This record gives sequence, C-alpha cells and structure tokens, in this order.
Amino acid sequence: MLRIAIDGPGGTGKSTIAKAIASRFGIEYIDTGAMYRSIALKSVREGVNPDDVDAVEEMLSRTTIDFADNHVYLDGEDVGGLIRTNEISMAASNISKLPVVRAKVDAVSKHIASIKSVVMEGRDICTEVLPDAEVKIFMTADPKIRAQRRYDQLVEAGKPADFDEIYADIQQRDYQDSHRDYHPLRQAEDAVFLDTSHMTIEENIEAIERIVKESQDNVEIQNTDN
Ligand code: DC
Repeated sequence: MLRIAIDGPGGTGKSTIAKAIASRFGIEYIDTGAMYRSIALKSVREGVNPDDVDAVEEMLSRTTIDFADNHVYLDGEDVGGLIRTNEISMAASNISKLPVVRAKVDAVSKHIASIKSVVMEGRDICTEVLPDAEVKIFMTADPKIRAQRRYDQLVEAGKPADFDEIYADIQQRDYQDSHRDYHPLRQAEDAVFLDTSHMTIEENIEAIERIVKESQDNVEIQNTDN
C-alpha cells in the first residue's frame, strides 16, 4: 500500500499535482475538497444554513457522497461541473467547520484509503485522516501568487476575473480553514514542507516524485536492516 497525503491551503495547485502524481505511480487520486464542495452544493440547493447544525445533520442523514475515477458523486449525481464556483468554494469552507460534516467525508476517505493505494489531498489528511500515510506533504504558496495563478487561469478561459476579489477570497478561505476549532488546516509535524511559489507545475511534480521515491527508499532500507 502506498498512501500519499497532501495538505495545504486552497489554490496551491494541489489537485493538478496530486492527479499527475497519482497517474505516475498508477494509483488513485482522491480529492477530499470535492466531497466538502458537494455537501456545500446540496446545502445551497436546499437553502440549509451551515450554522444550523440540526438542519445540516438532517440533510446529511439523506446524503451519499462517493469519489471514484476522478469523479465526485452526490446522491449518485456526478456534480464535478457544478462545484468549482466562488460561491461553492466559500460555502464548502463554511460548512466544513462542522464535525458532523467532517465525519461524513472522513468515513468515505478512510474507507477508500483502506482498500487501495491513493494520493489524497485536502486540509487535514496528514493530521487526521491518514496520520500513518507512507508519504506526507504540506504544500503551500504565497497567497498573492496563488491569486495571480487563479486570475491567469480565468483570463485564459475567457471568464471574468477581478484580481482583488480573488485575492480577498483566498485570504478569507485561508483564515477560515486554518482557524476553525475542529481539524483546522495545519502542517503535520512529520510532513515535508514544500513552498511552490516559484515552481512550475513540472518542477512541483518532480519535487513530490522525489519525496515519494526517497520515502520508499527509506522504507526499503529499514526493512533490510530488520
Ligand atoms: O481543496 P478545496 O479548495 O477544493 O476545498 C474546499 C473547501 O473544503 C476548503 O476551503 C475547506 C474544505 N476542506 C476541508 O476542510 N478539509 C479537507 N480535507 C478538504 C477541504
């Protein structure tokens, strides 16, 4: 089993990188943020207030979430195309502070990682979901650079983009995700720190590949010693 856990703030390019790493090692990619986004989508659709814990709990009692073959399913519906908006990003950050919501996503995530090798990315994978993962990485980048990357992506896709708004959203989400009471974003003590501010995507992938290979070499050396 090879479990590669990657945590870090939003907009660091974790998804792109994790997907590439998964394909290079021939293992599955699990995007836990997509699961929080799906729950947020359902709450927005139904008008459920994320501060009303009873209402959220009731909603969760009739919700199934699954992640398979790079697709997230909300009650059986592939919602991948609906969850990448600013509204859903913020709603996901809001609703993910609730322990009942985290328990739901954790159960799905842990189950998948118990039956197959994965690259799993999110905010609390190294600290809470897979604390004994073979490889743990904390990936971050300067918030201004993350905002610029997002801005460039939108412009390239011909979509409306306002740098100041994007930068403000990134800062607010960073704050919320790292200051909530329950399972906040933080670097696990034994995670490798990777600042990707000045790396290209290819350099970033290579850096992670190196970290994975080094950790595998270490495991082999330990096994030989024993
Ligand atoms: O990684 P992302 O931007 O798709 O995540 C969306 C939100 O979901 C993020 O702002 C906080 C929440 N999240 C979380 O709390 N824990 C995770 N493991 C992944 C995401």
